[in-house]
Amino acid sequence: MNMKNTIVIEGLDGAGTTTQMNLIAKRLEDEGKKVFITHEPTDNPIGRMVRDVLQKKIKTTPEALALLFSSDRDDHLYNDEYGLMKKIEQGYYIITDRYKYSSVAYQGVECDIDYIKRINDRFPHPSHLVFVDTTPESCMARIEKRGSEKELFERLEFLKKVRENYLKQFSSLPHGVNYLYVNGEKTIEEVEEEIWTWLKKTIL
Ligand code: TYD
Repeated sequence: MNMKNTIVIEGLDGAGTTTQMNLIAKRLEDEGKKVFITHEPTDNPIGRMVRDVLQKKIKTTPEALALLFSSDRDDHLYNDEYGLMKKIEQGYYIITDRYKYSSVAYQGVECDIDYIKRINDRFPHPSHLVFVDTTPESCMARIEKRGSEKELFERLEFLKKVRENYLKQFSSLPHGVNYLYVNGEKTIEEVEEEIWTWLKKTIL
């Protein structure tokens, strides 16, 4: 079973997924829906450990990091107190900035991709999935402009491989996942409009 009323937004670092999540949340709220926005890695204890690796405060192996991401994901979905499954039951529309597709795309660069798929296989697909596609070059330019210390995966050659992994997995999604590809090189407003036009037709 796919996760009901759940929208996943994916894209490379700097693609603008967080901005789009917030804009779409506002649109849904304006329609009177209860909305819960979230992201992976989460801000919960396991997610914080992941961030320490991304910020190069902790060094570990690509496989250990892959397991941490999927462990954070399990907690994100199934935690008794704050898990998304509970929120869905309570009638929330969920929007998440990244989900298991990020693991296949990113961890698939340095680990065996079939292994990454296997450790994420148990997590259900969402009802809705958006891919905000940007070139790795423009992502790097946006990241440079931000000026802060670069995270682990914020490298041009790496992001090129991530993009390929994204495109490959999105070309064979299972039935029942509503998928939208958006050209993320367009303006923020254009991308928002495209996502909202599609959502209005498929989720309201
Ligand atoms: P994100 O929070 O979107 O980046 P930012 O630091 O700009 O807010 O994501 C953090 C990084 O984690 C990003 O490079 C993508 C990566 N990531 C994975 O490698 N695997 C995963 O499963 C997830 C959810 C994220």
